[in-house]
Amino acid sequence: MSNIFSSSIGKKLIMSISGLFLVVFLLLHVSINFTAIISEKAYMAACNFMDTNILIQIMVPVLAAGFAIHIIYSLIITMKNLRARPVSYAVGNEAKASSWASRNMFVLGLIVFGFLALHLTHFWAKMQLQHFIGGHPEEAYKLVKELFGTWYYAAVYVVWVGALYFHLSHGFWSAFQTLGTNNSKWLPRLQCIAKVYAVIVALGFVSIPVYFLMGLDPLFP
Ligand code: HEM
Repeated sequence: MSNIFSSSIGKKLIMSISGLFLVVFLLLHVSINFTAIISEKAYMAACNFMDTNILIQIMVPVLAAGFAIHIIYSLIITMKNLRARPVSYAVGNEAKASSWASRNMFVLGLIVFGFLALHLTHFWAKMQLQHFIGGHPEEAYKLVKELFGTWYYAAVYVVWVGALYFHLSHGFWSAFQTLGTNNSKWLPRLQCIAKVYAVIVALGFVSIPVYFLMGLDPLFP
């Protein structure tokens, strides 16, 4: 059992399973965010569901653990790779064969993490955390409108979405490869699904600042 946590393949497996767990979480998150464009009522109903549904409350610490495991193992794997390969190689065969995203997964992950921290303090701490500690949650729609209507917050957000897009467009199919899907029939299909998934998530997230910055009308007022 201890081998799972310490062997190279064990670490990769933990990375892929935690990564795929986060992939599913992102779909839920982007769907909830998107309700802000549908109408204020729909967004408030979605927030209320997130605050009161028992399954969601149970999943909050599980999600935090998923992030922690993914980040800790990303550090372990990256340090090990750096130690094994102290001289960077730019023109080797591997560099040609691998994509830019695959070679920069850690940096992309760091950008994702940076915004995550910002996001947690701006939204989660002011809304969901308040329910846990018996405080006074801020009005969700007002908060979203305020922050996403600010150009500099929107700009940082767009950089985050860009990093997320590249992390996902490689990570999604790479996780399946780690889990054993390595044949010439399924790998190109998974690469295509990864792109589609990453585009949907990126467009879904980016639509929120675009909507508030441009002052567009809700889809169903
Ligand atoms: C919502 C956020 C995230 C999602 C959905 C996600 C998803 C994934 C997936 C699916 C993989 C592929 C695993 C594999 O190849 O088997 C992966 C790899 C990776 N992730 Fe993330 N990740 C997220 C956040 C982060 C963060 C915050 C970091 C670091 C600070 C990070 C660092 C990495 C690294 C370094 C790899 C490559 C590991 C390797 O070389 O095998 N990720 N991620």
